[in-house]
Amino acid sequence: MLYHSIVALVCFCVPNFLRSKKDVSNEIVLITGGACGFGRLYALEFTKRGATVVLWDINEDGAREVAKECNDLGGKAYAYKVNVSKSEEVYKVAADVKADIGDVTILVNNAGVVHGNKLLEAPEHLLHRTIDVNVKAAFWVS
Ligand SMILES: NC(=O)c1ccc[n+]([C@@H]2O[C@H](COP(=O)([O-])OP(=O)(O)OC[C@H]3O[C@@H](n4cnc5c(N)ncnc54)[C@H](O)[C@@H]3O)[C@@H](O)[C@H]2O)c1
Repeated sequence: MLYHSIVALVCFCVPNFLRSKKDVSNEIVLITGGACGFGRLYALEFTKRGATVVLWDINEDGAREVAKECNDLGGKAYAYKVNVSKSEEVYKVAADVKADIGDVTILVNNAGVVHGNKLLEAPEHLLHRTIDVNVKAAFWVS
């Protein structure tokens, strides 16, 4: 712990532009919830660093648009429609990705939902959806 604390302290003091960045140029990055928000930003950043990007989202049109943005930047991006809370769907599309593109080497479990209600006022189906998408899906996709 002491060693890692010292390393963390030293890293903290080194300016960002001097730090070495992980090379992701040969990686295949799967980003769930890649159709907008943070997922889209991760896709664009990984594309700029030369990675192949695979976007999974329940919003197919949005995922396709982000894939196009990445491809327009000169990248290689692919969009798939997946509801990550459905394990069978996840396994099927995972097999398609493996066959079409190859083995995923970086996973960004980003898809998530927020119901916006107070806990005691939230309808049961929204609580189920929150657990299904924010918790269980991370297991199915991993
Ligand atoms: N925005 C914030 O301030 C914030 C803060 C903390 C954590 N987060 C988390 O970061 C992640 C991304 O946040 P965001 O603001 O970009 O969210 P967002 O709502 O903009 O994007 C989430 C994406 O996930 C997709 N998605 C939702 N359910 C899905 C499902 N069942 N299957 C496949 N795709 C599904 C949506 O279609 C959407 O494209 C979420 O997990 C969120 O909970 C966000």
